[in-house]
Amino acid sequence: MSQTKVALVTGANRGIGLAIAKGLAKQNYHVLMGCRDINAAEKLVDKTDGKITPVTLDLSDADAIATCLNDIDQQYPKIDVLVNNAGVLEREELDQLSPEQLQQSMQVNALAPFALMQFFAPKMAKNRFGRIVNVSSGWGATSGMLEGPVAYAISKSSLNVMTQIIAKQYRKYLKVNAMCPGWVRTRMGGMAATRSPEKGAETAIWLAGLSNDGPTGEFFRDKKQIAW
Ligand SMILES: NC(=O)c1ccc[n+]([C@@H]2O[C@H](COP(=O)([O-])OP(=O)(O)OC[C@H]3O[C@@H](n4cnc5c(N)ncnc54)[C@H](OP(=O)(O)O)[C@@H]3O)[C@@H](O)[C@H]2O)c1
Repeated sequence: MSQTKVALVTGANRGIGLAIAKGLAKQNYHVLMGCRDINAAEKLVDKTDGKITPVTLDLSDADAIATCLNDIDQQYPKIDVLVNNAGVLEREELDQLSPEQLQQSMQVNALAPFALMQFFAPKMAKNRFGRIVNVSSGWGATSGMLEGPVAYAISKSSLNVMTQIIAKQYRKYLKVNAMCPGWVRTRMGGMAATRSPEKGAETAIWLAGLSNDGPTGEFFRDKKQIAW
């Protein structure tokens, strides 16, 4: 009998992250729902969702991340799937963007996913199995970079490069991919967006479940490869 796989999803208390968490739980993963407010998160899940356990995961700085990862690792030493979903969108134009806003975007959208990959990828490799999904954006693609908000484009394009580097390093047992969920109705995307959170979550859930002959080091939207 195969063991239940454990999936950690960051920023899983709302939006696309919540839809990814619920979607994975419906596929019988035990989902660790990464969030800053664990008490609020507990109210978001019910028994019909499957097995979802909120865990505190604050990505605001390196110390907070280290503390949270240490706690998670003590309780759940084997993580099979990591979904780096948490993100922030600073909308300031280039001439208005403050160093703090750029720093915050880099921290949540790039440095935090990197820290999590650095932490979990070697453990996954030791277990000879791992799937990492980085929730990126078309605005982080080099081809789309000139269109989106500056700090967002810089941070998501960094995440895209990290995806390729980690994928190459851990090619033997891991699948490490990035994806764009499309324009999704969340606090970030706004209510005019064309997609539901569930639709936005589909490709991430698919990448989490890739078989051993699946792709790695690639960028996807709607389960189809797109250009970096
Ligand atoms: N919506 C879209 O149209 C769209 C398009 C392309 C890509 N994306 C990407 O999809 C992902 C999810 O976006 P969304 O639309 O679902 O956004 P959202 O509703 O604004 O949710 C963002 C999530 O990130 C978490 N987060 C932010 N800063 C954090 C921090 N310092 N530590 C821990 N968690 C933090 C939030 O937690 P709190 O509740 O604690 O703030 C929340 O759970 C993001 O990476 C985003 O860039 C979205």
